[in-house]
Amino acid sequence: MADLAQPAPNLNVIAIDGPAGSGKSTIAQALAKRLELPYLDTGAMYRSVTFAVIATGADPEDAVTTASIAREMTLQMPENGDIIVNGLDATLEIRGPEVTRAVSAVAAHPDVRSELVSRQREWAHRRGGGVLEGRDIGSAVFPDALTKIYLTASAEVRAARRAGEVMDLDYDTVAADIARRDALDTSRQHDPLRRADGAIEVDTTYLDIDEVVSVISAHVDRAIAARAD
Ligand code: DC
Repeated sequence: MADLAQPAPNLNVIAIDGPAGSGKSTIAQALAKRLELPYLDTGAMYRSVTFAVIATGADPEDAVTTASIAREMTLQMPENGDIIVNGLDATLEIRGPEVTRAVSAVAAHPDVRSELVSRQREWAHRRGGGVLEGRDIGSAVFPDALTKIYLTASAEVRAARRAGEVMDLDYDTVAADIARRDALDTSRQHDPLRRADGAIEVDTTYLDIDEVVSVISAHVDRAIAARAD
């Protein structure tokens, strides 16, 4: 068994990082389909721990309790997009306002992160790679990824995209939540959101999905060719 405390080289890992609303999920899923690689939404894993924390009535700020909940959590993420946490269907709840409000606090705890990072590495090891999206994939989980992408978009466009996804919240509420989470995710001590060394920045503000996927695919093709040399 590989040492999951360490990232592994030679896997076909495509790391997609960026702030909320930058298009990560849509792009990563479309890219995975085009490259015929498996796809992992690591944000859904932090959301799942947060769901379990709320379900047990624990305090999201409590580093010790949240870490033990993370270690004990059973999580199933079948390809149809369902999220099963400790045997409960949490597919809708993990995207709801309660989890969204608390997830940055839970994701800031180092022992929660190390548990989920191990699971993410194990996931990729078992499959020989994959497209992983999150905040720290290129900087911490797989710094040796074949291709590292940092997606950005203007704050207005990111808020408009998220507001379009969640029916019950207006633009201003979504924009304020994104700004708050950006601030927490970029300023936390452990593996904050940042552009990883060697990551290619792609601004998606004025690009459609197909254009972004084509840009990234070209980078992946170049990386595969360079590795073969
Ligand atoms: O991508 P998302 O909005 O579903 O992510 C939810 C939260 O999880 C986000 O506010 C930051 C955190 N996260 C993280 O810290 N590291 C990751 N690799 C993925 C998400």
